[in-house]
Amino acid sequence: MRVLVIGGGAREHAICRAVVESGAQLYAFMKNSNPGIKRIASHYYLHDEKDAEKVVEYALENKIDMVVIGPEAPEGAGVANALEEKGIKVASPTKEAAEIETNKEFMRNLMKKHRIPGSVKCEAFSDVAEAMEFVEEMDGMVAIKPIGLTGGKGVRVYGDHFRTLAEAEDYIKEIIERGIGGEHRVLIEEKLMGEEFTLQAFCDGLTIIPMPAVQDHKRLLPGDEGPNTGGMGSYSHRSGILPFMTPNDYEEAATILQKIVEALKRERRDYRGVIYGQFMLTGDGVKVIEINARFGDPEAMNVLPLLKTNFVEICMAMVEGKLSSMKIGFERKSTVCKYVVPRGYGVNPVAGAKIKVDEEAIKKEGGLLFYASVNEENGSIYTTTSRSLAVVGIADEIEVAEEICERCLRHVEGDVFIRHDIGKRELIEKRIANMEQLRV
Ligand code: AMP
Ligand code: GLY
Repeated sequence: MRVLVIGGGAREHAICRAVVESGAQLYAFMKNSNPGIKRIASHYYLHDEKDAEKVVEYALENKIDMVVIGPEAPEGAGVANALEEKGIKVASPTKEAAEIETNKEFMRNLMKKHRIPGSVKCEAFSDVAEAMEFVEEMDGMVAIKPIGLTGGKGVRVYGDHFRTLAEAEDYIKEIIERGIGGEHRVLIEEKLMGEEFTLQAFCDGLTIIPMPAVQDHKRLLPGDEGPNTGGMGSYSHRSGILPFMTPNDYEEAATILQKIVEALKRERRDYRGVIYGQFMLTGDGVKVIEINARFGDPEAMNVLPLLKTNFVEICMAMVEGKLSSMKIGFERKSTVCKYVVPRGYGVNPVAGAKIKVDEEAIKKEGGLLFYASVNEENGSIYTTTSRSLAVVGIADEIEVAEEICERCLRHVEGDVFIRHDIGKRELIEKRIANMEQLRV
C-alpha cells in the first residue's frame, strides 16, 4: 500500500514513522526538506502543501492508495476535497469538516446550537465598540481571538498577555482592522482558569476512539511565561490520564468530542480523521478551548510511538467508517517530549543557523528524534523561523522519561532554546496543587 503524508514538521515525521512501521510505502509532500522524513520515504516532493492541484497530480502520478494530511492549512485549502474528487482515499477531514478548527466562530456556534457540554460564554464581533461593550460586561476577564488560523499564536488572554481595557481595545482593533487570521472579525471568550489538556481521537464520521491524554506547554518560557507558541513540549502518563485529572474528566472530554462529531454529521460535514480537543479543566468541569482537525504538534509525538495497532489499518478504518469494529491499543508508558527551537523563537527567531545533531547518541540514550521545520542542505541541518526538532523519552514513569529526554537533548548543538521545565516534577506538582485548589 502506498501512503502519502502531507506536511514536513515533527508531527508529520511521527506520522510518517507510524506509516512505515505499519508496513506501507511512504510518500511525502512537504514545503521544507525534513531530513527525518526524507530518509524513510520511498519518494518525496518539496512544494507548497496548500497547492491542492499539485498534491492531486503527485498522488495520481505515484498511484497513492491513501493520504494523511498533517497540518491544518492544507485541510483549510481543500486538499482532501480535491483528492476525494479523484477517488483517492483521505484519512483527514474535508475543508467543510475542518472548519471546526479553521473557523473558531463556527466551532462555538456549533457547540451552542447543539447544546454540547463544555461551551463557554463568547461572542464574535466586526465592530470594535460592540466588542468592547462585551469585554466590559465580562469585567475585562476575557480571551481575545482572531476567527481564523494563526498557528496557535493569535490568542491574547487577560492577565497573561494584557491587563487593561485599553490594551484589550488595541488588540481588538488590530485584529479587526488588519484582518488577522483572515477575517476582519474577533471572537471574545470568557477567560477560563484551570489546567489545560489535550485529548486526541480517531474518528470515522461517527465512532470515536480516544487516545491517551497529553499536556502541551504553549507558553515560550519556563513557568508558563512569555508569548504563546505552537507548543514547546508535552507529556503523558502511562495511565492514559494526567496527574491532575480524574478518569471522569477524561470521559467528559471524550463525550464532548463525540457530541461534536455527531453535530458535524447532522450538519452534513461528516468528520473523518484524527480530531483534537484542547480542554481546560476548571473548578466547574471540562471546558473546550479549541478543537483542531488533525493530530496535535507536539502531542502526536506522545501518542503515536505508543500505538500498538497498525496505524495504516486505523486510517483505512477511519476512511471506510469501520472504527467501531477495531480494537486500538497503546502501550502503558509515560512520555516526555521537548522541542528544540531556534534562539529568539516566538519573538525574533534566527533562521538559517546550523545545528548539529548526534542521531546515534540519541538512539543509544533510548530517545526518539523527530525533525521539524529545518532544512537539510549538503548534509547539514539549518533552522527556519519555526520549531527545529523534538526529542521524546519513553518510560514507565514521567520522571524517567524526562531524564531520558534531557540526556538526548545534550546531543543537539547550536544556537537554540529549550523549555527544560517540561515534564519535571516541580511543574507537574504545581499543576496538581492548582487543580486541587480549584476543585474545592
Ligand atoms: P488557542 O489558539 O485557541 O488554542 O489558544 C491558545 C492558548 O490560549 C490556549 O492554549 C490557552 O492557553 C489560551 N486560551 C485560549 N482560550 C482561552 C480562554 N477562553 N481562557 C483562557 N485561556 C485561553
Ligand atoms: N499543540 C497545539 C496544536 O497542535 O495545535
